[in-house]
Amino acid sequence: MKNIISTEQFKKAEVEKILARASIMEASCKSDKIEQILKDKIVACIFFEPSTRTRLSFETAALKLGAKVISVENAETTSSAYKGESIEDTTRMLCCYADIIVMRHPKEGTSDAATRVASKPVINAGDGANKHPTQAFLDLYTIQKEHGRLDNLSIAFVGDILNSRTLRSLVPLLMLYPNNKFYFISPKELVLSADYRKYLTKNNVNFVETTNLDEVLSKVDVLYMTRVQKERFSNVADYDRVKDSFLLKMEDVRKLKKDAIIMHPLPRVNEIEVEIDKDPRAAYFRQAQNGLYMRMALLLFVLDL
Ligand code: CP
Repeated sequence: MKNIISTEQFKKAEVEKILARASIMEASCKSDKIEQILKDKIVACIFFEPSTRTRLSFETAALKLGAKVISVENAETTSSAYKGESIEDTTRMLCCYADIIVMRHPKEGTSDAATRVASKPVINAGDGANKHPTQAFLDLYTIQKEHGRLDNLSIAFVGDILNSRTLRSLVPLLMLYPNNKFYFISPKELVLSADYRKYLTKNNVNFVETTNLDEVLSKVDVLYMTRVQKERFSNVADYDRVKDSFLLKMEDVRKLKKDAIIMHPLPRVNEIEVEIDKDPRAAYFRQAQNGLYMRMALLLFVLDL
């Protein structure tokens, strides 16, 4: 049985198959045939943290493939977790009703814990500040579509480097391809954790840490903006101090390469001026759209279809 818990679990050949499958999904999204593939399946989406894109794109992906969807949002208050049910028992119940479990939870490692009792595939839709593998797959697909390659790229992550589950999921996928260089740009309070820095060094990843966005702008192929994750801070004063550290302005975008792309997992709060949306290099809404095709591919992947 296949689960999707972390991008580190994937070998390059498997990643390439998933990318190719997403491309097929995109090309045949409106075909009648696609609506039959999962016609006897049920997908359960249980979200203990807020979401717009991940939950709705998974549900749309399931519906496009002909599956039925059962869904719990605000699960911390609307499911029996509120009464004290453990994640293991909740998972056992979901497996009685559905063929795939898509789960988001604020606590790191929750999806992994769910896999230990699950009799159906579990997909991690974000576990705290830890991992968000399906976001990373749609990001990879976006980079491939926009640049036509996944190697020899300079990628800058900007903002909340410490708490970005998106970063910790996308970097391992890009590490599968040669000659990629990473820039991590953050305020000093939100730099890479010591553990993650050690992991990158141990794996011979080419990376630079800096607080200066301006000196990096002209060098990168992908500028990946991230939101400062308010929900990961234990007090508001600490959040307020760093929340507006990096706001991308039109004058910054003018310094980017002509073929660079600007990405953001969204939601955007105060990281990218709205005026930038009309620049063709602003790829973040195309990125979110790609989430639908990629999540269709990932639903098929976990069912071995
Ligand atoms: N990028 C992302 O995970 O968005 P949502 O929180 O809206 O799902």
